[in-house]
Amino acid sequence: MDKIYFLIKNKYPLSLYEEDFILSNKGKIIFVNNYDYSDNKELKKYIKKVFNIYPTIIPIDEFLRLNNVNLFYNDIVFYIENIKNYNLKNFNIIKKDVYKHNWNNFITNEKLIINSSIISKHIYKKIKKKYLYSNRFNHALNVGFISYKIGFFQKEINDNNSLFLAGLIHDIAKDIDINKQKKLALNNKFYIDSKDYVLHQFAGAEIYKKLLRDNNPDIYTSISFHCTGKKDMNLFEKIIFLSDKYDPLRYINDKNKHSNKIKILQDSYLDFSHSFEYLTLDQVSYFKSKKYDINENYYSKEFYNYYLKK
Ligand SMILES: [Fe+2]
Ligand SMILES: [Fe+2]
Repeated sequence: MDKIYFLIKNKYPLSLYEEDFILSNKGKIIFVNNYDYSDNKELKKYIKKVFNIYPTIIPIDEFLRLNNVNLFYNDIVFYIENIKNYNLKNFNIIKKDVYKHNWNNFITNEKLIINSSIISKHIYKKIKKKYLYSNRFNHALNVGFISYKIGFFQKEINDNNSLFLAGLIHDIAKDIDINKQKKLALNNKFYIDSKDYVLHQFAGAEIYKKLLRDNNPDIYTSISFHCTGKKDMNLFEKIIFLSDKYDPLRYINDKNKHSNKIKILQDSYLDFSHSFEYLTLDQVSYFKSKKYDINENYYSKEFYNYYLKK
């Protein structure tokens, strides 16, 4: 019987709560506990609750002594989830040396994104080469994955792929010349005269429609309001909004903030509405710290009045 190892990585941005697992009838699943996560009892309880299996957990030192094991790490789990019947033959089982892999890197193997049929190779390359570069692209990928993961835990969401896509594309207009952004933004049916830094949300939704020749209303509106928010957002829009604000890459240089934001992100898998509530408050202090006037943008004001003045 094949053994499949999942690494529980507590230092990793999304940590424990982002772990999800395949239920395989062809292999034995073993969870490997990372260095700093000592409470196996809680871990077991969590895995049982969410995935309805009793896990076997081994400490990482034991894992490192094993040779030639097949390790699934959570970077690729989103890919696995999509495969019906848990047929292991469909997976690339990745043999990894745990020391060589950079566990702090949240960016996933590109091949897996493309193979997962969420996005065509052609469009993916275009996004990467023409619209978003290096760190912006990494941020985009993170927002895609985070949204996907949050969606996975929400009963009401049944289209995680669209969440991934919206996350990947949300900032697609950000590196475009500002006049061009404005021109594109004017086509957006939600456009209201806004400050320059907000234009890319309206312009981005328009690029999405053209580039993907697609018009999913959730993707369109979630991109259109990812920066400002608005009143009465639906769950899809909220997920993109939160994933963007809490992408760990944003806080990578601020240790205190980093762990705080990651905690909120982790919590959002199991209690999204609570994390979203926290985010609304967080937004107000963010505006204050940046000296942004909430009245500067129509939709920011709308968001503020709707979620904070109730
Ligand atoms: Fe943005
Ligand atoms: Fe963003």
